[in-house]
Amino acid sequence: MTNVTVINHPVVQTKLTELRDYTTDTREFRALLNEIASLMLYEVTRDWPTKPRPVQTPLEKITGVELARRVTLVPILRAGLGMSDGVLALLPDARMGHLGVYRDEKTLEPVSYYTRLPPDIAETEVLLIDPMLATGGSGSAAISFLKKAGVTNMRFVCLVAAPEGIAWLHQQHPEVPIYTAAIDRQLNEKGYILPGLGDAGDRIFGT
Ligand code: PRP
Ligand code: URA
Repeated sequence: MTNVTVINHPVVQTKLTELRDYTTDTREFRALLNEIASLMLYEVTRDWPTKPRPVQTPLEKITGVELARRVTLVPILRAGLGMSDGVLALLPDARMGHLGVYRDEKTLEPVSYYTRLPPDIAETEVLLIDPMLATGGSGSAAISFLKKAGVTNMRFVCLVAAPEGIAWLHQQHPEVPIYTAAIDRQLNEKGYILPGLGDAGDRIFGT
């Protein structure tokens, strides 16, 4: 599949397997999700542009680098919040935007209920995060919001993706790269990912 990167690192896969285990409790689930988000970030940001930054070491002047653009992290509420601390651990200067989107349980259509984005988001590198890409409805709606806000540099980062969701995002937003730790088999009749890890929001927040 084009424009999809599966982060197959053994440490990520080991932690993902623990997350999938239904006996993993809320406390451990939160910790693992953030750890995986941090680990994935190395791959997700690998080709971000940098610009020269002169520094004086204790011995000499050199020209190092810094990120060319500021970073905005945008979790899709609620479950995306479960990955935010892991990303912020490595990018502590990132600003955060919030997009509230949930799936109607019957229609599986995305319902938007909250939008709050930094005013200069269009000039930044945007990481849109949500652990689950199922039908792709929520992710696609979130990307449309970001595009309306002028965002052109964005990456969608999830943990588990269904082939159906990847296909839908590709159809709606082919230029947006997707990063995931796994592409699972399929959706069930209720739109849950199989084998998946269940309802990510419920497992993060204990609801
Ligand atoms: C989950 C998940 C995604 C969405 C994925 O959120 O966090 O946002 O479902 O499904 P989709 O690809 O079919 O749209 P949910 O609607 O359960 O809301 P929550 O995060 O508030 O629990
Ligand atoms: N949302 C989830 O949290 N889990 C799924 O399997 C599908 C959508």
